[in-house]
Amino acid sequence: MTIDLYAVFGNPIAHSKSPLLHAEFAKQTKQDLSYTAQCIDIDSFSKGADEFFKQGGKGLNITVPFKHDAFDFAADLTERAKRAGAVNTLFLDKDNFIIGDNTDGIGLVTDITQHLKWTINNKNILILGAGGAVRGIIEPFIKDSPNSITIVNRTKEKAQQLADGFSDIFAIDACSYPELAERDNAIAFDIIINGSSASLSGELPPLPNNIISENTCCYDMMYAKELTPFLMWAKENKALSISDGLGMLVCQGAESFSIWRGVKPETGSVIEYIRSIL
Ligand code: ATR
Repeated sequence: MTIDLYAVFGNPIAHSKSPLLHAEFAKQTKQDLSYTAQCIDIDSFSKGADEFFKQGGKGLNITVPFKHDAFDFAADLTERAKRAGAVNTLFLDKDNFIIGDNTDGIGLVTDITQHLKWTINNKNILILGAGGAVRGIIEPFIKDSPNSITIVNRTKEKAQQLADGFSDIFAIDACSYPELAERDNAIAFDIIINGSSASLSGELPPLPNNIISENTCCYDMMYAKELTPFLMWAKENKALSISDGLGMLVCQGAESFSIWRGVKPETGSVIEYIRSIL
């Protein structure tokens, strides 16, 4: 009997936790499969993906820097992948067409609502950053009916463009960091999500203190053994609750796994396990 093949494509990929978490999911749900991490040459995504599926591969995860290549490569896209403008999951449909999906946003919202038990419904949400990572998470937030969503970015035009892309379903505010500081009757936000890449370079976006209170929950989409600069700022400002993005990683993986295998793994124990070996 041949074993079903899955992989994550990225560059670099050596530190990817995806093989580990999919091995946990497979063990837990008693699925016989192989999941490997493959480093693909920067210009060779479609060649690599083509070969993978021709050799019988059943599904791929895609990480930096190939999420746009995967978007172009897919024969068709799910609605949420179209909105996200990026693909992190490729799967075969019943006619063996390769479909592009995006599970990043639902992974984040699942971690926030199910593990952390933060409420999005009717709350005021602030999102830092306006790059590809943020574009992927907006639609699932809108689906949970927040009171407001504000996107703040160093380059305000990018925040505005992103907000405009969702104007048919939700009125998102866009602003720059100085504008955030100057808001009239400033109220603190209920949830602040750091979707900027500042934590990657050990930096903190220029955040004013009027956006956070003791009722604010702060989430960094990056994860690390130590607190990121954003989460340190949140702690110093006495945030109600803080979390890094390890749960998002595990939950987006669980969504991909369930698309491929038709069974949803339990994620809480997998988050704990991966945290213990970070
Ligand atoms: P990704 O696909 O991971 O989102 P990206 O498209 O390069 O990466 O976007 C990075 C985001 O982080 C951008 O919103 C960027 O702000 P600009 O658009 O103004 O460049 C933001 N960013 C990066 N470093 C930052 C920092 N030190 N402070 C604040 N924002 C930062």
